[in-house]
Amino acid sequence: MQAADLGKKAVGHRAAELVRDGMIVGLGTGSTAYWLVERLGQRVAEGLSIVGIPTSERTADQARGLGIPLGWLDEHPRLDLAIDGADQIDPQGQLIKGLGGALVREKRVARAAREFVVIADASKEVSRLGVGCPVPVEIAPSAIDDVVHDLARLGAVPVLRREGSGPYVTDNEQWIVDAHFERGIDEPESLERLVNEIDGVVDNGLFTNLASRILVADGESVREWRPETAGRAPRG
Ligand code: A5P
Repeated sequence: MQAADLGKKAVGHRAAELVRDGMIVGLGTGSTAYWLVERLGQRVAEGLSIVGIPTSERTADQARGLGIPLGWLDEHPRLDLAIDGADQIDPQGQLIKGLGGALVREKRVARAAREFVVIADASKEVSRLGVGCPVPVEIAPSAIDDVVHDLARLGAVPVLRREGSGPYVTDNEQWIVDAHFERGIDEPESLERLVNEIDGVVDNGLFTNLASRILVADGESVREWRPETAGRAPRG
């Protein structure tokens, strides 16, 4: 296994230890959350009793294969804990998520949880969001032209995400436009709101004021920090 994967495994497994018997737990998506789910599968096989709320079909398939009991947000609107990866983390703990395409469910699950724990390797920590990573924006396909126009007015270079010969289609049957702000994002909180005000936008990958704890793998050791923005957003 490569060094980056060892770090993802270490931080995913560490986060799995935060899960206690009887919890309703949001299960993230991506190559770091994969290790969280894998370890939770082992703990369930050893007798841990939880209900997992998956943030994507991919994670649901993995969790089912490991015997983790699953539920859905409509039956469990309040979660004890949600754990997920991130694409970028700034020094205030603001995030970009959604390169894996699951941002809408990921944000609903994070908001519904009393505690939202982010797991990542150190390459995800950046001084300024947006440099080197677009903000994924999930949209209704019929609104593509207007959304592209309005994102450009906000200073983005919008690019429709593609897969094979057509647009990438999310679990919700929508499309994703990747909004590139290559010079960086000055005010993530207001940008998150402005993008969501565009007609036809379902949600976007800026997750501001949501992370309550951040676990970062440095090599195979894990350090933890609490963002100053923790608890600013209404949750759980
Ligand atoms: C999925 O939509 C994303 O938000 C992931 O959580 C994010 O891309 C992190 O993925 P990795 O752990 O694979 O880097």
